[in-house]
Amino acid sequence: MKQKRQRSQEIIEKVEIIEAAAEGKAIAKIENMVIFVPFVVPGDIVDVQIIKKKKTFAEGKAIYFHKHSDLRVEAQCPHFGVCGGCKWQTMRYESQLHYKNKQVIDNLERIGHINCSGAFPIIGSEKQFFYRNKLEYTFSSKRWFTEDEIKTLEPNSPRYGFGFHIPSFFDKVLNIDYCALQREPSNLIRNFIRDYSLENNLSYYDIRNHEGLLRNVIIRTTSVDEIMVIVVFAQESETISPMLDAISTKFPEITSLMYCVNTKFNDTLYDQEIIVHKGKDHMIEFMPSFRGDRDNLKFKIGPKSFYQTNSEQAFVLYSKAAEMANLKCEDIVYDLYTGTGTIANFIAPYVKKVIGIEYVDDAIKDARINSKENNLSNTVFYAGDMAKVLTEDFVKENGSPDLIITDPPRAGMHDKVIEQLLNIEAKKIVYISCNPATQARDVSLLMQKYSVASIQPVDMFPHTHHVENIIELILNK
Ligand SMILES: C[S@@+](CC[C@H](N)C(=O)[O-])C[C@H]1O[C@@H](n2cnc3c(N)ncnc32)[C@H](O)[C@@H]1O
Repeated sequence: MKQKRQRSQEIIEKVEIIEAAAEGKAIAKIENMVIFVPFVVPGDIVDVQIIKKKKTFAEGKAIYFHKHSDLRVEAQCPHFGVCGGCKWQTMRYESQLHYKNKQVIDNLERIGHINCSGAFPIIGSEKQFFYRNKLEYTFSSKRWFTEDEIKTLEPNSPRYGFGFHIPSFFDKVLNIDYCALQREPSNLIRNFIRDYSLENNLSYYDIRNHEGLLRNVIIRTTSVDEIMVIVVFAQESETISPMLDAISTKFPEITSLMYCVNTKFNDTLYDQEIIVHKGKDHMIEFMPSFRGDRDNLKFKIGPKSFYQTNSEQAFVLYSKAAEMANLKCEDIVYDLYTGTGTIANFIAPYVKKVIGIEYVDDAIKDARINSKENNLSNTVFYAGDMAKVLTEDFVKENGSPDLIITDPPRAGMHDKVIEQLLNIEAKKIVYISCNPATQARDVSLLMQKYSVASIQPVDMFPHTHHVENIIELILNK
């Protein structure tokens, strides 16, 4: 039988938290030892129980507060302290912005050796709660119980959980009753689905044994009150239809009710068939035009399409990127990692031509529809892996770009893509990133031929450590 690991009994008393660190944790320092502690704020003085200890760093847990930091505010969410989602929720928003800004600059200076003296201060999000247009909840046969729940747990109480993953435990899920990230009826829908599934004895997925029926629920909303709900099942079942009917009867405001039977071991849906149970197969989102001189842009969003999760702040991000790009009507622009072509369509009215490239085929189909819907005839979209699509022949065929906008995933750009950018020699590159570490790495490589002209961090995700950053690069003469 597997032995349970004993928790360390080492407790360090009256430690001052001095910094906010990566992954939303904070830092204390004792002599040469750095201690990472979650759910605390710089300025707190706490007793820390050491949970893991290595040569130069340790991980700990605050077990007693001697002093609360002046940077503290009350948490809005009942799950704070357990849920891994909004770890900075007890820190004032201005301080969150300060630490996000610092995270960007530290990464650019340390990894990329980039001079950040002229960086613009971070732009905060107007909405600090209910800013997300998409949340994904997971069902698990292995619910994570909080310390308080364990005290009152009956031997036969259900072990099913429906909510968010617990950080570092891929099979454990915290039951979520309330989340302040997505507007209603998001909480109501999730809680109804949980009650319905328990009342009807529907089994929850066991990721280790690949058993059980219910896997995930994705809820997406738009600023014009469209709601998409996708329920993911792990197997075919005659209980699927009655469950979806019950959801649609309870929430007639859902405009797209869809489902998917994913029998794979992983949760990705890109290669899965998503079936419409009721309503439309997409949602429509609107965004103001860049210069406010045209009708609002209309974006079609399918169940598999990427769309920035903070819609209002996406407009701020795109506007800043477009400003830094200094768009000219004769420009040929490449929009790399275009998703559903949102940036391409946002800038198209102000340039000669935009060429968008993206991996997901369905997103490219939506990008083309989005151009048509917005009466834009100067965009072209290609689906495929960037490293394979962006070749010398591609540039010959589509024209040499004056400007390249690139917005890669967290992993940053492939070496081959960077090499190709260095060969293409566009006059300007605007690099948008959600990961300052990989952005710093990529920019330092581009600096063989480019210089950093401006840096603009933008906060898209209040209460998390995540931060977006835009860098303007100019080709050296
Ligand atoms: C951060 S999103 C940016 C989307 C878009 N620019 C927007 O603002 O909506 C990154 C996009 O890159 C795409 N992607 C990831 N890896 C890729 C690859 N190797 N080649 C092409 N596209 C890729 C993803 O599917 C995703 O749509």
